[in-house]
Parts: sequence; structure tokens; C-alpha cells
Amino acid sequence: MANVLILGATSAIAQEVAKRYAERGDRLFVVGRNPAKLAALVSGLGPSCVGSLVADLDDTDANARRVDEALDALGSIDVGLVAHGLLGDQLETERSWDSAEAVLRTNLLSVVSLVIPLANALEEQGRGHLAVMSSVAGERGRPRNYTYGAAKGASTLYLQGVRSRLWAAGVEVHTLKLGPVDTPMTETHPKNALFATAEGVASSIVRLLDGPGGEAYVPKYWAPIMGVVRNLPEPLFQRLKFLSGR
Ligand SMILES: NC(=O)c1ccc[n+]([C@@H]2O[C@H](COP(=O)([O-])OP(=O)(O)OC[C@H]3O[C@@H](n4cnc5c(N)ncnc54)[C@H](OP(=O)(O)O)[C@@H]3O)[C@@H](O)[C@H]2O)c1
Repeated sequence: MANVLILGATSAIAQEVAKRYAERGDRLFVVGRNPAKLAALVSGLGPSCVGSLVADLDDTDANARRVDEALDALGSIDVGLVAHGLLGDQLETERSWDSAEAVLRTNLLSVVSLVIPLANALEEQGRGHLAVMSSVAGERGRPRNYTYGAAKGASTLYLQGVRSRLWAAGVEVHTLKLGPVDTPMTETHPKNALFATAEGVASSIVRLLDGPGGEAYVPKYWAPIMGVVRNLPEPLFQRLKFLSGR
């Protein structure tokens, strides 16, 4: 039976992940911002849920205390998953520093403020899995979403360092590089065949977190696609409107 902490647990994908751990009989502590959504999740998880906390994770000064509270309730952490995110409005982030800062805060600063206490706790335990939901958007700056992409890319880079630091301690660090998923975050986006479902992505995440750490594309078909997108020379990239357009 694993002790699982999910931060940003009201995300559509995180809720599906939580359900899967509960079905396996694992113990969960869930943290989310929206009290009504969190209460509904907790009630659906039943006795598997040993604790919950309503928290705005943008309040970075409070995040170490929140991880401590979860650790006290669970006893130890086998899986710590950071799931929350904010796509934001790209055009708005180009006009307003407040808007850009909000996107950078939620997707990068907040993540770092949670990874610090999680990494230290797991290092002290000498075991466990630490995971963050990053994005393929972090692999190449595109006019469509480069503020969000920059925050996700920086979190991917940050986790590379954490992974190599914790390798010797026996802690597995997972960077989950998600492609587009049909969730509230992408509600208004036109859907295409590359969109995944929250259910499918959640099953892949739970499977990945049972294994060794590393960077993983979810779904897997994003690995070859991003190999091409990442390596296209900029003059060519800029001429391909389906990649570099708005
Ligand atoms: N959907 C995609 O296409 C896609 C692609 C790549 C990566 N991702 C990443 O996957 C993760 C899950 O996203 P999703 O698709 O499941 O989206 P979602 O259903 O829209 O969930 C986003 C969640 O983040 C939470 N959140 C945002 N700011 C927060 C804050 N300051 N404090 C606490 N919670 C906060 C939201 O809380 P509220 O419920 O309170 O609003 C919401 O539950 C995110 O990190 C996202 O960036 C998603």
C-alpha cells in the first residue's frame, strides 16, 4: 500500500490519477484550491483518502508547511505528484506583466516551492517517487503559448537537476511531458487526433510512477513528434504556420 500525495488534485487529470490509486487500495492526501471540487474528490475517494487541504499553491511561502502537513498525515511519502497548472491567455501575457507573472508563478515558482520540501523529505527517507506534470510546450518556444511553455520548460530543466541530485539517494524523479489532453484547460481548443483523454493519460502516469524516474512523453507518440519539432532549424520552423502560427 503506497502513500500518495497529490498537489493540485482537482485537475481533471489528477482526479483520474487519484481514483486509480484509490482503486488499488493506496492511501491518499490531496491538496487543491477549489473547496467544492476538492470535497467532491475526497468523497469519491472514500476511506483511501486519509487527509486533504484547501490551498492556493501560488502562495509559495506556505507550501513547505503544506507538504509537512501531508507528510504528518501520511507518515511517509511513496509518491509525491505536483499536478496543478495554468495555461493562461498568451496574448494577455504579452501585454500585461501581471498576467505573465501569474503564469510563471503557477507553472514554475509554485512548482519549485513544492519540489524543494518534497525532494528533501524523499531524500531523507532514501526512497520514493517525485513527479511533476510538465508539457511538450516546454520543448520549443512557439507564439501560441511561449509564456506557459517557458515556465514548463524551466520546470523540466529544474527537475533534471533534482533527478541527478536524488539518484544517489534512491529517489525516482519523473518529468511527465504531456501532450494536449481534453480537459477544462483546453476546453476552447479545437480538438484533433493527437488529443488524449484524461483517463488514458492518468493510467499512463500511474504506470510510469511504478517504474524508474526520467523524462516521459505522455502519450508516448509525442516522443518522435517532439524530436522533429525540437530540432527544426528556426528559419524553417518560422515558415511552417501550423507550428509557428498563433
Ligand atoms: N490539458 C492539457 O492539454 C495539458 C497539456 C500539457 C500539460 N498539462 C498539464 O497537466 C496538468 C493538469 O492539467 P489539466 O489538463 O488536468 O487541467 P485542469 O483540469 O484545467 O486543471 C488545472 C488545475 O490546476 C489547478 N490550479 C491552478 N492554479 C492553482 C493554484 N494556484 N493552486 C492550486 N491549484 C491550482 C486548478 O485548480 P482549480 O480547480 O481551483 O481551478 C485546476 O484544478 C497541469 O500542470 C497542466 O499544465 C495539461
